[in-house]
Amino acid sequence: MINKYNAKISGTGMYVPTKILNNYDLEKIVDTSDEWIRTRTGMFERHIAAENQAVSDLAYEATLKALEAADLRARDLDMIIIASVSNDHAFPSTGCILQKMLGIKNFPAFDISAGCTGWIYGANIAKLYIENGIYKNILLVGVEILSKITNWKDRNTCVLFGDGAGATIISRASSSDISQFIDSELSADGSNYELLIQAAGGSRMPASQQTIKDNKHTVYMEGNKIFKLAIRSMYTACHTVLKRNNLDIHSIDWLITHQANMRIIDALGKKLRIEDDKVIVNIDKYANTSAATIPIALDESIRNGKIRHGDLVLMTSFGAGLTSGSLLIRY
Ligand code: ACO
Repeated sequence: MINKYNAKISGTGMYVPTKILNNYDLEKIVDTSDEWIRTRTGMFERHIAAENQAVSDLAYEATLKALEAADLRARDLDMIIIASVSNDHAFPSTGCILQKMLGIKNFPAFDISAGCTGWIYGANIAKLYIENGIYKNILLVGVEILSKITNWKDRNTCVLFGDGAGATIISRASSSDISQFIDSELSADGSNYELLIQAAGGSRMPASQQTIKDNKHTVYMEGNKIFKLAIRSMYTACHTVLKRNNLDIHSIDWLITHQANMRIIDALGKKLRIEDDKVIVNIDKYANTSAATIPIALDESIRNGKIRHGDLVLMTSFGAGLTSGSLLIRY
């Protein structure tokens, strides 16, 4: 397929709720310790949404910043994609709710469910619409409030997650632009979908008093079974894209991986043989914000001057599904 145009990231923005929960706060909630959380995950703080905040509220704040960075107005958008597993409602989509909040209409808005890989999946969809010349500016937001679907009695999961939003505007690049999307790789292995699941509330297990009693509306994860799969599938997603584009890992300026566990990030970096100082890490500040980890890390790194125009940035994620993917861009 010959692309008519190139896609690029024209603006990014992030938002995290003001309330912060650190490891010492968690020691008061479940049988855990700062030492365990720090050494086993690399996490220290996470932001937690207020009772009256839903994901559309977080997405809205991040979007305003991304629009400003792109020097665009809401009415310049042609499509909204939301990547989340903690949407405002089962339906309608958060994409449509955000569209209303932004005061715009009459173009496609929808959500995708690919767990922590949601932003990478969304970027791939946006890339194709831009490259084919169908749209010029697509808003893609990775956003989660996992704190509201967390079992706060389960120390295996409740220490791991944080809330936040990362918004990106994906736009048509001009022919003279050095910024562009280069390649992307997506995959899923549904054979292990039960390892990471919010079991109740859908048609398989409708909400009932029993499902509430059994905590089936919260995140269930068999973390130790996922651990190795996460490293392997993110490695494959990165390796495939590097190979397809005849690129050596040393030509990559920055690696942004899903922020699920510092040990996973370290192991992946070593397996890819990338220099430690090229790996972007903010897991200590935000923990695992699922679909928001990559766009938050991207926005932070652009704003603090780490990622500069022309840099080659490789991004990769892994999550519920079990999904995985990578995206290579020249920023
Ligand atoms: N505090 C203290 N002890 C704990 C805690 C805690 N918060 N959590 C678990 N433990 C204990 C366990 O009970 C167990 O004790 P035992 O040996 O007495 O039975 C021990 O620590 C080891 O438990 P493991 O689950 O084997 O710990 P592990 O080292 O694997 O770390 C973790 C768990 C952090 C979840 C890790 O497995 C991981 O990061 N997995 C991958 C997660 C991931 O990538 N998920 C996909 C993306 S997330 C998404 O899509 C939303």
